[in-house]
Parts: sequence; structure tokens; C-alpha cells
Amino acid sequence: MSGSDYTIRPEAPSDYRAAEELTREAFWNVYRPGCTEHYVLHCFREREEFVPELDLVMEKDRKLIGHIMYARAEIQADDGRKIPILAFGPISIAPEYQRKGYGKILLDDSMKKAADLGAGAICIEGNPDFYGKSGFVTASTKGIHYFAEPREAEVPYFLVRELKEGYLNGVTGTYRPPEGYFIDEEETEQFDKSFPPKEKLKLPGQLV
Ligand SMILES: CC(C)(COP(=O)(O)OP(=O)(O)OC[C@H]1O[C@@H](n2cnc3c(N)ncnc32)[C@H](O)[C@@H]1OP(=O)(O)O)[C@@H](O)C(=O)NCCC(=O)NCCS
Repeated sequence: MSGSDYTIRPEAPSDYRAAEELTREAFWNVYRPGCTEHYVLHCFREREEFVPELDLVMEKDRKLIGHIMYARAEIQADDGRKIPILAFGPISIAPEYQRKGYGKILLDDSMKKAADLGAGAICIEGNPDFYGKSGFVTASTKGIHYFAEPREAEVPYFLVRELKEGYLNGVTGTYRPPEGYFIDEEETEQFDKSFPPKEKLKLPGQLV
């Protein structure tokens, strides 16, 4: 997809390192001192849940300014079914291009592609202020619960969006992110050393 001043295209192997650098820059010190998302991305490309068709980069001025990846996931339904869905993330926009609308454009374009591939719904943990603008709602209002929280909790950061209307009708159950999102902290530390040094800071608003 091309807009007036950007292009969205599949990630190529020659983009891998730049996408990891971009991810590191975007997430650094946002949710914790430092970040782990660049290592999540690095490992995910080899995993079977990874969706190559939805591994996308955004370019502007011949520079990589955005990236998103998706993974196959499932809802463990209370009636025993496993409902196939997608998860995505990390999604990153280069710091100097944030809050200019590019993240929403990249997300919305990738969700169109996901729908074209036949996906029925997406679950994501994240900021409702950003994802709400792209049609995500609190998952517990749809009867979908987050594995790490009590069943009765309304979890404001756990969100769902149907891509096929009615896909989750009659479904209640629990979601656990795909294994690729759970990474080893020590391995992450080692991987991070292959990037230029960057100061880890404890800042207000971080989750960890
Ligand atoms: C989150 C991210 C992908 C959003 O991309 P972006 O290009 O900055 O966002 P957009 O400009 O498209 O935002 C669209 C709307 O979403 C909302 N929004 C975006 N980021 C937000 C934030 N951090 N806090 C609150 N609202 C936010 C805003 O309402 C924004 O509209 P506004 O700027 O007119 O208020 C990007 O900021 C980023 O890479 N952040 C660091 C990494 C990260 O947090 N990734 C997501 C993990 S869940």
C-alpha cells in the first residue's frame, strides 16, 4: 500500500536488523527500563506461529519508520473448542514519527490484510487509547478472559477486535499469548549487547 508519503510492504531479510533497531528505539524505556521487544521480534521470525504475510514494514523518505508482525494464536473456549485468532506485536513507529497518524495507518492496513487472509479476530494487550481508535474493545465485555488475570476482572489493557462480524458470537473462554512472546531475560540481555549501548532508565508510567 502506498499513501501520499509512505509505503507499506512485506519485510525482507535485508530489513531484519533495521526493523529490530527500530523496535528497540520505539520501545526503549517505555514499559520498563530498556526493552525486550526487539528480541521477541528477532526470535519470532523462526517460529511456526509467525505469519510472514503480515510481517510488514512502513517506509517514508526511503527510511524504515514502522514495523508490525502477527502471530497465530487461539482462544481456549469454555466448551472445549480452540478458536483460531491472531495476535500482533510488536508494532513500532520510529520515535520521531510517532503521533502523526502512521501507527494507525500501519495497523489498519495490516488488519485489512489479515482479514483478506481469512482471520476472524485479533487479541492484543496494549493501550486502549491507541487501539480503541482501530475498533478494539475490552475483551472481557465479549467474554474473552486473560490467562494471567482473575476471570471476573475487567482487564482494561486486554483487547479484542473481530475481523469477521459475529466470529466470537457464542464464544467465551481464555486467551494466552503465543509462546513466542515469553522470552528469556538473560538471552535478551545478551542479544541487546549487539546493539549500540543505551541507558536503561526507571521512569514513571512504566509497567515493570
Ligand atoms: C504505539 C505506536 C505504535 C502508535 O503509533 P503512532 O504513529 O505514534 O500513533 P498514531 O499517531 O497513529 O495515533 C493515533 C491515535 O492513537 C492515540 N495514541 C497513540 N499513541 C498513544 C499513546 N502512547 N498514548 C495515548 N494515546 C495514543 C492517539 O489518540 C492518537 O491520536 P492523536 O495523536 O491525535 O491524539 C507508537 O507510538 C509506538 O511505536 N510506540 C512505542 C512502542 C509501543 O508502545 N508499541 C505498542 C505496544 S502495545
